[in-house]
Amino acid sequence: MKREGSDNNKGDLKKVNLKGRHFLTLLDFTPEEINYLLELALKLKNDKKAKKEQQYMAKKNFALIFEKTSTRTRSAFEVGAYDQGAHVTYIGSTGSQIGVKETFADTARVLGRMYDGIEFRGSKHTDVEVLAKYAGVPVWNGLTDEYHPTQILADFLTIKEHINNDLKGLKLVFYGDTRNNMGNSLMIGSAKMGLHFVGSAPKDLWPKEELIKKCQEIAKSTGAVIEFSEDPIAAAKDADAIYTDVWVSMGEPEEVWAKRIELLGPYQVNKKVMAAAKPGAIFLHCLPAYHNKETKVGKEMGDKFNRNEFEVTDEVFESQQSKVFDEAENRLHTIKAVMVATVGDL
Ligand code: CP
Ligand code: NVA
Repeated sequence: MKREGSDNNKGDLKKVNLKGRHFLTLLDFTPEEINYLLELALKLKNDKKAKKEQQYMAKKNFALIFEKTSTRTRSAFEVGAYDQGAHVTYIGSTGSQIGVKETFADTARVLGRMYDGIEFRGSKHTDVEVLAKYAGVPVWNGLTDEYHPTQILADFLTIKEHINNDLKGLKLVFYGDTRNNMGNSLMIGSAKMGLHFVGSAPKDLWPKEELIKKCQEIAKSTGAVIEFSEDPIAAAKDADAIYTDVWVSMGEPEEVWAKRIELLGPYQVNKKVMAAAKPGAIFLHCLPAYHNKETKVGKEMGDKFNRNEFEVTDEVFESQQSKVFDEAENRLHTIKAVMVATVGDL
C-alpha cells in the first residue's frame, strides 16, 4: 500500500529545532527529532515533485569530504544542496591535506571558517567526532565503519511509504554483517522508533554487546524489540521488511571474502527468505549490491568463489517486492532534510 505524502505538516516543522546540531549517529536524537526529520524529508520530496520547493539554504557553502567512495551519498548531498540554493566543494580521498599533512582538528577549524556545514565519510568514527568537536559548524556523518545514520532515514521513509506511516511494531529483519555500520544503525534506528528489529547472522557477526544493551534499554521506552537469530528462515517470520548489505564493507581487506562467504552464505536473501516473510513484505538494500557478476568486484569474487550472486539473489533484487531504487531516491530527500534542519533558515 503506497502512501501519498500530506502537505499539512508545516505546523510540525516548527516544533522541533535542530539548528546548529551535528548529525553523527541516531543515538544523539530523540524519536520526536527523528520523526521530524522524516516529516521534513517527505515535505521536501512532495514540494520538489510539485515544483514548489522553497529554498532554505540560499548561498550556504558546504564541504563534502569523502575518504571512501560513494555514489548515492555524494549525489544526495550535492543535489540536495543545489536544490536548496547552496554550493558544495567535493573533497575526495586525495584532494586535501586532511589526515595526511594536517590533523582532523586543524582541518576542521579551517573549514569551519569557510563553510556552513561539513559532510564526512571515512573509516574511523572518532575522525568525524573530532571534526564535529572543532569545526564550529554542523558536521554530518556520510558513513563511518560504525554508523551510517543518513541511510536509516531513507530506509524508514521508504518503509513508511510502502508499508505503514506508523513505524511502531513493524518487523525489520537485517541479514549480514550486523556489527558493521548498517547493522548497528538499523538496530539503533529501530530502537528509537519502536520497530521490531531482528539481526540474522552467525553470533560472531552480531553487534557489540554494549551497543545491543544500549538499544534494548532505549527499546524499553519506545516499545521496540531488539533480537538476534541464527536461523534465517525463522527470523523472517511475519517480517514487513527484509534488509541486507554487502558481506564485505569498504576498507576491509580482500582476504576476508572467503571467511565472510562461509559465514554469511546461509544468510543470503533469496526467494525462500522472502517466502518466509509476510506476503506484502518489501526488500531493501542500502546499495551498492552484488546481485550478479556484472561489476568488476562481483566478477572477480564470483569467479574466485564460484558464485553468481552474494548477499541477495538477482531474482529477489529485481522482483516487485524490491524497493531499492525508491530507497535510493529517498537518500536525496532525507539528506536534504538533515541539511535544512541543521543549517537552513526554516
Ligand atoms: N548507500 C550508500 O551509502 O551508497 P553510496 O556508497 O553510493 O553512497
Ligand atoms: N556496509 C557498507 C555500506 C555501504 C553503503 C560499507 O561500509 O561498505
